[in-house]
Amino acid sequence: MTGLIPKQFIVDLVERADVAEIVGRRVQLKKAGKEFKACCPFHDEKTPSFTVSPTKGFYHCFGCGVHGTALDFLMEYDHMDFVDAVESLAAIMGLEVPRSESNNQSRSYDSLFELLDRVSVYYEKNLKSHETAIDYLKTRGINGATAKRFSLGYAPSGWNNLLNKFGSSKESIDRLLATGLIIRKDNGKYYDRFRDRIMFPIRDARGRTIGFGGRIIGDEKPKYLNSPETVLFHKGRELYGLYESRQALRNIEKLVVVEGYMDVVGLAQHGIDFSAATLGTATTDEHLNRLFRICEEIVFSFDGDRAGRAAAWKALQNTLPHIREGRQIRFIFLPEGQDPDSFIQENGPDAFTTALNNALPLSDFLIDELTSKLNVDTVDGRARLAELARPLLSKIPAGVYKDLLTEQLAVTIGLPPHRLEPLFQNNSAEHGKRSHGNRTKIGSSEKNPSTGKPSIVRKAITLIIHHPASALQIDIERLSGNTRPGIELLNSLIKAVNSEPKITTAGLLERFRNDAEGRHLGKLAATELPGDDNFDSVAELRHCLTQLELSARRTRIETLIDKQRTHKLTSVEKTELRELTKGP
Ligand code: GTP
Ligand code: MN
Repeated sequence: MTGLIPKQFIVDLVERADVAEIVGRRVQLKKAGKEFKACCPFHDEKTPSFTVSPTKGFYHCFGCGVHGTALDFLMEYDHMDFVDAVESLAAIMGLEVPRSESNNQSRSYDSLFELLDRVSVYYEKNLKSHETAIDYLKTRGINGATAKRFSLGYAPSGWNNLLNKFGSSKESIDRLLATGLIIRKDNGKYYDRFRDRIMFPIRDARGRTIGFGGRIIGDEKPKYLNSPETVLFHKGRELYGLYESRQALRNIEKLVVVEGYMDVVGLAQHGIDFSAATLGTATTDEHLNRLFRICEEIVFSFDGDRAGRAAAWKALQNTLPHIREGRQIRFIFLPEGQDPDSFIQENGPDAFTTALNNALPLSDFLIDELTSKLNVDTVDGRARLAELARPLLSKIPAGVYKDLLTEQLAVTIGLPPHRLEPLFQNNSAEHGKRSHGNRTKIGSSEKNPSTGKPSIVRKAITLIIHHPASALQIDIERLSGNTRPGIELLNSLIKAVNSEPKITTAGLLERFRNDAEGRHLGKLAATELPGDDNFDSVAELRHCLTQLELSARRTRIETLIDKQRTHKLTSVEKTELRELTKGP
């Protein structure tokens, strides 16, 4: 039985790990002052821009923007998932990973997994005795062996099959509800979600069933029903068929990303057993992280119609921040009206392999799509192209790939690359030339509109991430009443340092790894602060707080004065205004 790994253990582990040693096992490091340098292992380069800071517990490449803690390094370099990286780091340090047995949550999750597996077996058994369901799969070209590989099943008609079979107690009914297998009616009664449908169990990376997709056999609506989001099942994270692909192939070179369950199963039926489907959502960052942990090449396969091209464009945009040297991202556009399943049934595996080999590289798709709407023979058209390309390019981490794409665009626009680059750099100054171009939250979206400089909150957060101990000198009360974006995160950071005064940069990053806003902190850790001896982080931080206080005061004064113009102020407000305008 595996419990959850206590957060504190992970933070301590990263605090104690020597990031230089972990990285140094894989990459030859050279001492450079307090830090180490190397040629980046994640992109191709001749001069070293990869730095490792043992005091911060953090590595960062100025070339391609990768960064993180010892755990991130193990995940990126060894393609591990988070839990494996924790296990591996603990093993290196001779520690055993504790599992909180007392954790009720993980134990109750175990019983949910168990239920889903039993239900999957039940559906599978049912398929064997239902001619119509078997015939349906046959007409779709799926044989018994493929059905078995994917544990395809059949949910019989009737409203109470699961309830009768798996819902004998209050607890078991709760579990059926929690996994989305039954639905509660207004009158307090329940009914089965999936009825008279072909069932596709959705499995997680470890092969455990976490949800289902169900297809109607005839033409009724809805054609597909999916499990709802549950504690075990998150559509934005899971990909159908990924587990089965990993079972089929020891070494996955590339993965084909498709849209439907039947695409995955149909491709596998013809020997293309390296595909995975998003579950009715666009490709998310989490999907892409998972895919790129498995292999370096992703081929998106979409319909050739307008909807398909629109979906592909969306996928392209989401993929830009994931571009790295060595990764390949390509697109297949099938003939109008066809999806991968119908295409391979009709034309056979060789035709699909040909389509795969001819898939359009991301850069070509990007340029084709942008130029299709413009006339690049005119000056206006070319200027517009540069304008449209800019926000897209800014999402790509700096590196050789970005340079090549810029060059390719320059050729299309008919400008020498050195004339084009400044055009694109303007914008990437906003993202920090050296950081990842993806959307950074952390109040960073919040920039001073007049100067375009990062906000004060962001600066304060950056200071604390680089010099955690400076937060010990800060009076947190000074932030009360301030409502700027990012203030809450700043607050939590100061509190975290105060409860663990010796915490390092890496420790803070681990502590906030799963925090909605805080998980972007790594990007701030990867920005540069002045490194000289005269840099006083405490004074800088105090200065930020003073500015925040002043600006909060100014906002409040303006609010009160505004109100004074239209309404009457209460006597309390009048006193407040008087106090506020007295000066600091
Ligand atoms: P087949 O007709 O069986 O070949 O399905 P398909 O995979 O070609 O389906 P389609 O391209 O219509 O849809 C792709 C994916 O979108 C499916 O696999 C489902 O995940 C999802 N989807 C399709 N129709 C529905 C629907 O009616 N409801 C929901 N919730 N999802 C759907
Ligand atoms: Mn289809």
